[in-house]
Amino acid sequence: MQTHTTIASLRSTLDRARAGGARVGLVPTMGFLHAGHVSLLERAVADNDVAAATLFVNPLQFGAGEDLAAYPRDLPRDAALVAAAGVDHLFTPTVEEMYPTPVLTSVSVAGITERFEGASRPTHFAGVATVVAKLFAIAGPCRAYFGEKDFQQVAVVRRMAADLSLPVEVVACPTVREPDGLALSSRNVYLTAEERAAAPVLHRALSAGAAAVTAGERSASVVRDLMRDLIAAEPLAQLDYVDVVDAATLAPVEPLVGALRLLAAARFGKARLLDNLGVLAE
Ligand code: PAF
Repeated sequence: MQTHTTIASLRSTLDRARAGGARVGLVPTMGFLHAGHVSLLERAVADNDVAAATLFVNPLQFGAGEDLAAYPRDLPRDAALVAAAGVDHLFTPTVEEMYPTPVLTSVSVAGITERFEGASRPTHFAGVATVVAKLFAIAGPCRAYFGEKDFQQVAVVRRMAADLSLPVEVVACPTVREPDGLALSSRNVYLTAEERAAAPVLHRALSAGAAAVTAGERSASVVRDLMRDLIAAEPLAQLDYVDVVDAATLAPVEPLVGALRLLAAARFGKARLLDNLGVLAE
């Protein structure tokens, strides 16, 4: 595996690979990798001639008072995991390399960014869309891989790529979970033992919501209330939002019909955790 710290080095290497006919797969990450990231890396390696991963804690997507400084980092361990997955190129730029001058240009996706994560973190998705657009411009991938755990992020990146006619296929990969259902996240490291024991309530609530839909419940508010009550019963969970929406547009659906996504976010102490599940209402 070759590690690149400059834009020029990664760009020229991948330009040469593409000129030789290679298909390039890209996995953007902020590091502190877990088995969910590894599944994206392995998929990128399996699907493409050349696989590249990026590891950059992007300051643009953190709001004031969020965990930018504390965000967990472990470059040597991450580099070993990326290499073990068979990835050919790792990009680890500094903030100065990515943003050498004040950033005056921002990519902002309207509509689907307004609710859920966007309501709680108003500048977050512009930061994500801007850095992902920049990484696409640097690496020129044919395919880019994102985890479904951040379901709204995948929708935002997909819409950004479509609206800007970027020649990249956005591939969403399934959430990887602990045996008790907790979705893997770099932020799980913030959980105390008690919070870790409480956190699977998110997945339990989403599973109960999905089971109700499968059993025939077609009222969004009934499904929402059912999930909210389960999370509210866990004293260590501070609920941010819970909802059931159209899986493609993230818009409200009432009555429930078609491909749906159940979404939840809650704070457990210092960790703000997200989860989601798909269900079909036929
Ligand atoms: O999901 C993440 O880790 C980040 O939001 C991403 C997509 C790498 C952009 O910084």
